[in-house]
Amino acid sequence: MSQTARRGADHIPSRSDDGHAPSDQSLRIHRLVQTEINAGFADDVRRGLSAETKRLFPKYFYDALGSLLFDAICLLPEYYLTRAENEILERDADEIVASVHDGGPVTLLEMGSGSAIKTRLVIEALLKRQTRLLYVPVDISATALETSARVLLQSYPSLTVEAYASDYDTALRYMHDSAWREGRVLALFLGSNIGNFEEAEARAFLRSLRGVLRAGDALLLGADLKKDPAVLEAAYDDALGVTAAFNLNLLARINRELDADFDLRTFRHIASYDAQGGRVEAFIESDRPQRVNIGKLGLEVTFAAGERIHTENSHKYDLAQLSQLATGAGFTRARTWFDHAEQFSSNLFVAVEQADLIKP
Ligand code: AVJ
Repeated sequence: MSQTARRGADHIPSRSDDGHAPSDQSLRIHRLVQTEINAGFADDVRRGLSAETKRLFPKYFYDALGSLLFDAICLLPEYYLTRAENEILERDADEIVASVHDGGPVTLLEMGSGSAIKTRLVIEALLKRQTRLLYVPVDISATALETSARVLLQSYPSLTVEAYASDYDTALRYMHDSAWREGRVLALFLGSNIGNFEEAEARAFLRSLRGVLRAGDALLLGADLKKDPAVLEAAYDDALGVTAAFNLNLLARINRELDADFDLRTFRHIASYDAQGGRVEAFIESDRPQRVNIGKLGLEVTFAAGERIHTENSHKYDLAQLSQLATGAGFTRARTWFDHAEQFSSNLFVAVEQADLIKP
């Protein structure tokens, strides 16, 4: 990803329906990306669909419709991840926060905050121990940030939100060189978002994150666990077809934004668990030989019958892998909490002393 243009913090005027507008000081949004994440969309589609093995990146799922479809996925009976993590946070947020608190104020950082619904449980636990809270969400979607920040500020007047509308790398680079924190930091990376990274990418991301933290700071990492393939495959290919719609929306998005003529009815959603690789793999498969035109790219793409586009990997973990991930990035896995069915894990990684940290 290439994000170059940077501006300083914008003051977003706050508005509210009931007259209790949060003060301007309580919300700042740093827009570190001027060009949308979509800037790379056309290039990535061209490259991905011209390749021998066709592929599209999962970050492109999340346009306006895709984000709504993902919220719907989180409500599906088969998609246990969100409910399991919510169960853990409802039950254990106080304990989690207690193991991070050092008596002083704790700053809450969140990577990929999205709608920030689960964050409320952590915020409430923190506000039992401190009177004010600095919340630093980082999300690629400026609109999601603005909406969620306003809602949080309505609920928690003692909150200050310093938001970064940015990809992770850019935000971490910026934070590395700025004074953004107050006291100890608790970072959140929830929802098994880590699962979209390959092993090396996950390690690189966690190292960059470690680079803006200090020894004693903590990261709460939500990670989905390895389990019965049937349970996993149902979670990623639900009976209602919402995940299929979420996946196929990538083609619909290419039709909308790049003036293409994909006939969605001739493609189907595939999700299968590769136990060896420990990951659910998602594909879009063409049910017939066909050619598709992508107007804005001046590109014709040919599909054989049964040919697939790889769209996502969702990696599943065990505790040994999570410990290894922590150690490889300058943390130690201090404690792990589970939901009652032990399908999901919330892992407290504590940053350890490190001699030479790599700049993100
Ligand atoms: C948002 C990456 C955690 O992999 O479970 C849900 C995305 N894809 N259903 C996941 C997703 C299909 C989700 N993450």
